[in-house]
Amino acid sequence: MKFKKTALLAAFASVAFLAGAPSAFATTFKVAVGDAQGGTQWELATTFKKAFEQKTGGKHKLDLFPNGQLGSEEETINNAAMGTLDFSVLAVNNITPFSPTVGVLTLPYVIQSAEEAKKLTQGDIGKELTENTLRDANVRIVGWAYSGFRVLTNSKKPVKTVADLQGLKIRVPKNEIMIASYQSWGINPTPMAWSETFTALQQGVVDGQDNPYITVSAMKFNEVQKYITNLRYVFSLEPLVVSESMFKRQPADVKKAILDAGAEATEHSFKYLQDTESKIKKDLAAKGMQIVEPADGEKEFIAKATSTVWPKFYKSIGGKDKLDKVQKALGR
Ligand code: MLT
Repeated sequence: MKFKKTALLAAFASVAFLAGAPSAFATTFKVAVGDAQGGTQWELATTFKKAFEQKTGGKHKLDLFPNGQLGSEEETINNAAMGTLDFSVLAVNNITPFSPTVGVLTLPYVIQSAEEAKKLTQGDIGKELTENTLRDANVRIVGWAYSGFRVLTNSKKPVKTVADLQGLKIRVPKNEIMIASYQSWGINPTPMAWSETFTALQQGVVDGQDNPYITVSAMKFNEVQKYITNLRYVFSLEPLVVSESMFKRQPADVKKAILDAGAEATEHSFKYLQDTESKIKKDLAAKGMQIVEPADGEKEFIAKATSTVWPKFYKSIGGKDKLDKVQKALGR
């Protein structure tokens, strides 16, 4: 009798495994969030959590770990790729080292508005980049946070021109395209993990950095930065990725819940940006940050970055025709 029971349990276990074991039992999945609570990443993650838990009837749960608690954004994508982490929300520029073709979204001055960001990510280009990321990095993009243009902040002086930038130590993500953008403006920026950035700004290891208004506010950078320049060189896109090894093990209904919840969270993120960004901008000004516009409609920044950075990265984005395709999709 005892033998029979054991054999039955073993048979059940192997059937459950073949059918996709994680769904057979209640599961709690882990979601890494690079930013602190309160930003666009957090908004995407909390909306996704609510929708996913509701769609699975509360059987599956998501635990969110904000503020780099599960490691730097580079570490979390690596862990998701290896299947030791379920989900991560991170900036697209921190995916580029693992899947270079998404770099087309970070090429300076390619995306010129939130609407363009939405159009690209939700159209054929977004589909192709999702497939490439799956192929290169073993993670699947299931949602996008639209975070706004990466404005430049620093603690030293108002920066209106390329000349004003000289002498400043600026932190950038470990992203070759962003490094090259600053080099085109004549300075050598400091590549650094996102999780180390606040401390580096606080201790004066670097003078400045760039990120969207909502991120600047969520990370409380106003406590360690004084000046903002409204640069528009990169529109920040922050995908929600799922580990493909984990995704593949799920049955159809859980897969569908992940994809549908991701689409809902993406839609919400766009609206959140529209509703929130200008309020946050005013709030940062009220807290003492001085906001300036680049001189001459940013022309000098644009000319230097596009003429030198674009050609340098044609190869890594998959050829010049990839950029042409993006420009065409944007009606240029
Ligand atoms: C970075 O600057 O590394 C990222 O854009 C930060 C973020 O994920 O918000």
